[in-house]
Amino acid sequence: MKKSHSQWSSRMGFMLAAAGSAVGLGNIWKFPYMAGEMGGSAFVLTYLLFMFLIGLPILVLEWLIGRRGQKNPIHTMEDVAVSEGRSKLWKWVGMIGVLGSFLILSFYSVIGGWATDYIFLAIKGTFNGVDGAGTGQIFSNFLGNVNSLLIWHTVFMAANTLIVALGVGAGLERSCKVMMPGLGILLLVLVGYAAYVSGPSFGEAFNFLFTPNLSALNGTAILAALGHAFFSLSLGMGIMMAYGSYLGKDVNLLSTARTVVILDVIVAMLSGMAIFPLVFANGLEAGSGPGLIFVTLPIAFGNMAGGTILGCLFFIFLTFAALTSSISLLEPTVELLEEKTHMGRKTATVVSSILIWALGIACILSFNEWSNVKLFDKNIFDLLDYLTSKIMLPVTGLGTVVFGAWMMNQKRIREELKLNEFWFSIWTVLSRFIVPIAVILILIYGFI
Ligand code: PHE
Repeated sequence: MKKSHSQWSSRMGFMLAAAGSAVGLGNIWKFPYMAGEMGGSAFVLTYLLFMFLIGLPILVLEWLIGRRGQKNPIHTMEDVAVSEGRSKLWKWVGMIGVLGSFLILSFYSVIGGWATDYIFLAIKGTFNGVDGAGTGQIFSNFLGNVNSLLIWHTVFMAANTLIVALGVGAGLERSCKVMMPGLGILLLVLVGYAAYVSGPSFGEAFNFLFTPNLSALNGTAILAALGHAFFSLSLGMGIMMAYGSYLGKDVNLLSTARTVVILDVIVAMLSGMAIFPLVFANGLEAGSGPGLIFVTLPIAFGNMAGGTILGCLFFIFLTFAALTSSISLLEPTVELLEEKTHMGRKTATVVSSILIWALGIACILSFNEWSNVKLFDKNIFDLLDYLTSKIMLPVTGLGTVVFGAWMMNQKRIREELKLNEFWFSIWTVLSRFIVPIAVILILIYGFI
């Protein structure tokens, strides 16, 4: 079998690529608006807990299984299952994963397109001097304009196609090395700015996000927090499994996973602390949904010294953060087509992109002309998001952890993770019981 993307040049390169996949729109766009809709800290603290307790073990297992299989997710699952003396049917875990990445990319690209468009709005000075009503208007005009949504979605998908068709190896690794620290610095500047201009609202935002408020904890928030932990770590889509397949034996999975989870969480928290002070200081609605970051941050950019440059940089980095993630989302479908058909890599990339692009158009229309087209009371965008984040990712994650903890030889896993007796017993309790039970309970809740 051909390898469709190159081997990581170093542990650092792998870590940055994995972090590049993890850190994306999920942290900067989705996390803040979900926290806003779900009552703040109840969602945030549950999400943090799930990231370490549930996300981290599954991340480790995806890498571990991928490194064993050395192939794409579907064949990896099949091969590893057979070598452990289990049914070939385990390949379905890989299949649902690939389908999930296909569906997610269709709407992810639309939002990536928003970010790209906002670079140009910032450059043109569109936000200069605007208030909350103004940015809200700009955003809703934008959502109503099918043509510009379509153009930016197309541009974003084209960028993906280009990079994936050429191969992601050195280019992606190297760009992540520049992009990730850059994004971090910018976020710090934004948090500093938010603290500076919003006065007491900064404390209010901090309390909103971090002061435990158990009364706001409900099943919906818990389900959303779990789904988001999966989404944010790029789990349950075979992506981390594929990334693991290019890993050298010497890389310590646990410590690498810990670093990736911590980085991912920090970016999400910083985004929250950049955005909510501005939301409260400007009397905006925290629960305003997917438009949150496109409506609130421009107010800051439009009214601060150097805001045009900062705004422009912010949306450039947002676009790149989205790109380093969306490339990883395209990969599984491309790999599948490459192996199951006679297509070469370039053709497979173009065909996958066109299919995903077409589904993206349905997503675009759900914001305007088709906003009344609803299934289960959700428009197409919401439905895709719900189906993937809340059902497919947890189901695949559950399959992965049940396979890893119950179907595989545990002694070998212990050696591979280099755990002593004590930590291995904790690992066992987590991976065999706590993680699967938590995911099952939350899935059941999601259905009723
Ligand atoms: N983890 C990415 C984010 O937070 C999204 C993503 C999901 C990327 C799945 C790849 C795979 O934005």
